[in-house]
Amino acid sequence: MQPNSCELKVLDLVPFGQTGSASRFFALRLTRPAWETWRPGQFVMLRPRNFGLDIPWARPFGICHMTTRHMICFFQVRGRGTQRMAELRHGDIVRVWGPLGRGFVMEQDTPTLLLAGGMGIVPFVGYVNLHPKPWNVTMLFGHREHISCYPVDSINEHVPVDSLREQENGDLDNFIYTIQERMRDIADQKGLVLACGPTPFMRTVQAFATEMGVRCQLSLENRMACGVGACLGCVTRTTKAWPVETRRESPVQVCTHGPVFWADQVEL
Ligand SMILES: Cc1cc2nc3c(=O)[nH]c(=O)nc-3n(C[C@H](O)[C@H](O)[C@H](O)COP(=O)(O)OP(=O)(O)OC[C@H]3O[C@@H](n4cnc5c(N)ncnc54)[C@H](O)[C@@H]3O)c2cc1C
Ligand code: FES
Repeated sequence: MQPNSCELKVLDLVPFGQTGSASRFFALRLTRPAWETWRPGQFVMLRPRNFGLDIPWARPFGICHMTTRHMICFFQVRGRGTQRMAELRHGDIVRVWGPLGRGFVMEQDTPTLLLAGGMGIVPFVGYVNLHPKPWNVTMLFGHREHISCYPVDSINEHVPVDSLREQENGDLDNFIYTIQERMRDIADQKGLVLACGPTPFMRTVQAFATEMGVRCQLSLENRMACGVGACLGCVTRTTKAWPVETRRESPVQVCTHGPVFWADQVEL
């Protein structure tokens, strides 16, 4: 299926953490695209006009939140593309392809634990906003930068967030121990775990999910060029548990088959 493509206007770019040009974290508010439905965990490919000729490829970003009038993406400056995005101003034009990929499941009566590492927090802003019974949801957030760099308040309004900052030796071990404890609680309640963050974090969550037999979905952030299944730049290998016979134990595109996968169905 052809993804929807449209041009949206920048409404504003709000720095998080530090102010102005010192910030590396931004909420980008765009006019709302015309799609009727979307699901947290889905993403968009963004290509602002200011990429010019020297940055030919769009970049993938999770949909942070949608209101009736706006779409919000939240990004961290990493390289050339995101640096250019940090220079966007009100009225600038951004080409957007989306909503792309498959999002997280939402089971209103199932106790659900959200696990986020760093920018993995982004899809959970929309998730907790749309969840019909947010009292069944809790969240654990691990991060390296100051908490003010992340959109935690938008989540805290709906569900309690426990956050742990990795600053010193031992903090990571403590975070991993806490993940294990929280996942064990959810396993005892026959609940659901949803995780998003860097690959080593995803591997840890996947290993605990296997050990505890808890239902778990992971959102992968493989590098992407086209975002629509054509370039094969983003593939990951499936396991025997993959439901489609022909793709078992073979590579699949993360952009179209994911980015959200059941933890037992992919190799990381
Ligand atoms: C499905 C998906 C959703 C994403 N959602 C978000 C989001 O909501 N907010 C956000 O800030 N970022 C998100 N990312 C990562 C974002 O796409 C990259 O940070 C961005 O493309 C970097 O572009 P750049 O031109 O600034 O960096 P480049 O110049 O292309 O690369 C600079 C450095 O950034 C790192 N990098 C680039 N792409 C990735 C990637 N996919 N994963 C990890 N590291 C990467 C690499 O270390 C690289 O060396 C997402 C990626 C995917 C695949
Ligand atoms: S990014 Fe091109 S196939 Fe996934």
